[in-house]
Amino acid sequence: MEKLMIAGGSPLKGTVRISGAKNSAVALIPATILAESPVTIEGLPDISDVQILKGLLEEIGGEVSFENNDMTVDPSSMISMPLPNGKVKKLRASYYLMGAMLGRFKKAVIGLPGGCHLGPRPIDQHIKGFEALGAHVTNEQGAIYLRADELRGARIYLDVVSVGATINIMLAAVRAKGRTVIENAAKEPEIIDVATLLTNMGAKIKGAGTDVIRIDGVDNLNGCRHTIIPDRIEAGTYMILGAAAGDGVLIDNVIPHHLESLIAKLREMGVQIEANDEQVFVGPAEKMKAVDIKTLVYPGFPTDLQQPFTSLLTAADGTSMVTDTIYGARFKHIDELRRMNANIKVEGRSAIINGSVKLQGAKVKASDLRAGASLVIAGLMAEGVTEVTGLEHIDRGYSHLVDKLCGLGATIWREKLTKEEIEQLNNA
Ligand code: EPU
Repeated sequence: MEKLMIAGGSPLKGTVRISGAKNSAVALIPATILAESPVTIEGLPDISDVQILKGLLEEIGGEVSFENNDMTVDPSSMISMPLPNGKVKKLRASYYLMGAMLGRFKKAVIGLPGGCHLGPRPIDQHIKGFEALGAHVTNEQGAIYLRADELRGARIYLDVVSVGATINIMLAAVRAKGRTVIENAAKEPEIIDVATLLTNMGAKIKGAGTDVIRIDGVDNLNGCRHTIIPDRIEAGTYMILGAAAGDGVLIDNVIPHHLESLIAKLREMGVQIEANDEQVFVGPAEKMKAVDIKTLVYPGFPTDLQQPFTSLLTAADGTSMVTDTIYGARFKHIDELRRMNANIKVEGRSAIINGSVKLQGAKVKASDLRAGASLVIAGLMAEGVTEVTGLEHIDRGYSHLVDKLCGLGATIWREKLTKEEIEQLNNA
């Protein structure tokens, strides 16, 4: 086990290249199960979630190669092997195996990940969709059992706008008989990316990126090549970092349109932002103004950037309020930021941040992926050395974080945890 050591205070400068989108990757890889011949996905991020999914596809008989960020999956020998335990429990997005295996084999057994870090994350809308398509779904000892004699298209209205349910229903419906209509669908760019891959495989999907998606089922899907979209949350994290601790940071391989809500907020704070087709430059800000943010479904402010943004707001002039309407309990990073001298209180779904504070290095723990990003940003802003444990969360979603930050001039490195430190963490 390792920890991250950050010596704060050096201004970051230079160019950082963004990797492929994690939240697309975790759906695109299971989607390959639906094809009859090899599928290549180009530009995948080098993160542990991708490695876990590779292992899971191999477990069910897939032949998978992953080199230089390109993955080729030959799904022709896959079988509908139950996956109630093991690797599947390590991955929150393992639920996409349900839709993909149900679509291909008409049956699946998938274990659900345990303890949740963002508060409750139900999958009732996924299940409602599978049932509408004709599947019988039961939950037995922490694993979901799905079975259908035949999948038939259906009209499905999502009660909650859900990225996961929209994609999962799409995965099952592309090989159902007849037409499926998903109403009140989520509109995130990752949904368009998955629909693009499926369409390249021969699926018939219209309306991805709007709130009504129409899918006409087909009997077979073929292999193809697909290039993943850039990770808008990784890009957003580096933009926030550029504003918080930068002296001119160029973010390369980004679709600025995906980040309009963040760009607008940074500009409102007084941060200089220039964007072209695939790059965003974040200039130094003389003085940053406090702003309020409220997380919303796309194209609103993303919940995944709420935690990194909170760190930035500790340096702004005045009081800011951050409200998370998607995950009301996504505030585990606040206690850690307080250890670093931040002046923040949480009331219900909101955090109130009193700014103009100089953060101080401290020993802190990442409880989830984006909490980790928020602590790394805080560490880079702080005086002195910050030690971040819980690195396994950060490794799930940020490709080559240390290398990318060192490339910008940060003083950051990984260190092995001592036996005593491991014991302390286990007892905490
Ligand atoms: N919800 C339900 N029932 C459902 C599904 C969702 O009530 O069946 C609720 C959730 O509790 C939440 C809201 O609907 O309040 C939105 O959840 P959604 O289903 O959209 O989230 P998700 O698909 O599980 C993805 C990302 C998350 C990101 C959210 C919101 C992936 C693998 N994960 O999760 O990313 O926060 O959308 O944008 O795509 C992250 O990257 O750190 C991360 C957690």
